[in-house]
Amino acid sequence: MRVSGTPYRSIWPEASGAAVSIIDQTLLPHTFAVRTLHTLADAAEAIRAMHVRGAPLIGVTAAYGIALALQDSATDVALERAGIDLAATRPTAVNLRWALERMRTKLAPVPATARAATAWIEAAVIAEEDVAANRALGAHGLTLLRELHERTGRAVQIMTHCNAGWLATVDYGTALAPIYLAHDAGIPVHVWVSETRPRNQGLLTAWELREHGVPHTLIVDSACGLLLQRGQVDVVLVGADRVTRLGDVCNKVGTYMKALAAREHAISFYAAVPSPTIDWTITDASAIPIEDRAGVEVRRIAGIGADRGRVDVELVPENAAVANPAFDITPAALITGLVTERGVCAPSEATLSAMFPELAKAKVPA
Ligand code: MRU
Repeated sequence: MRVSGTPYRSIWPEASGAAVSIIDQTLLPHTFAVRTLHTLADAAEAIRAMHVRGAPLIGVTAAYGIALALQDSATDVALERAGIDLAATRPTAVNLRWALERMRTKLAPVPATARAATAWIEAAVIAEEDVAANRALGAHGLTLLRELHERTGRAVQIMTHCNAGWLATVDYGTALAPIYLAHDAGIPVHVWVSETRPRNQGLLTAWELREHGVPHTLIVDSACGLLLQRGQVDVVLVGADRVTRLGDVCNKVGTYMKALAAREHAISFYAAVPSPTIDWTITDASAIPIEDRAGVEVRRIAGIGADRGRVDVELVPENAAVANPAFDITPAALITGLVTERGVCAPSEATLSAMFPELAKAKVPA
């Protein structure tokens, strides 16, 4: 995608072949800055502190993190240690574990002398696959948006949550990919962007959409029910951090409320899901680890002050009791469809397994 006209991806290897650069998402939407990761510790910290975020991008960063680690030492112990360190960064998005397992499977049989080079190549392959999957998924979602436009004869009103755009992936995004492709194809769209407290990833979505020229409106999270009730939304389209074998969707906290309200008002609710986001080993969604983040994210809010400098504002006293669960589960029963790179399917074990037979067969629930 483009930033002020310049093409960017959210992560890229440096020409030196010894480092990887990212866009620091903790500074957006106010400041666009690139951060370069040189070590395993840099990669782990980038994921933990959410300089990078979004399920697919976390996975790709972890894959590059393995490559960075193996530059220092490529022994079996170093490979295992790097995997453990990276897996400990964030618990919910399964793409992280998926990418680490893929790197381990690829690298374990390779002689230590060739491991670092192989790791760089494999991480790049994973990144390219992410771009291709999102583009394919976007094309399937585009068909849905085109149908909606043809049915209503006006701009398609889409509601999204969090940031499932190109910043959350390597390029295109998941939930935003169909929107970008629709906009580029001349289909009029308008996106309702919920701010997504406490970290306000909706601001990243608004920033992305603005850079691409897609009409959108930022709303507070609590306004979503009203808009759905008033018929101001044609379709809800969100991303996912982990999808069970049965099609239940774990995504940013607040997703479930939107799905409930959408069902009440007979509005379609789709989740955009590239296949690495499906956890074939889980049938019971309550087994998905829901990240509990620091209370400070609820107690404070960051923004830009009158002098244009970054400020942290305290909303409640430091000792106020707060809770900060970061994800929730939307049961398959509330979901109209899953938009994947192989097409749109109903959220069920039968349909998902039919769409990805080789993956469903390879991983059976414990
Ligand atoms: O905590 P985050 O910002 O990493 O959470 C991101 C989300 O919940 C996204 O909706 C999800 O990862 C899909 S990204 C294509």
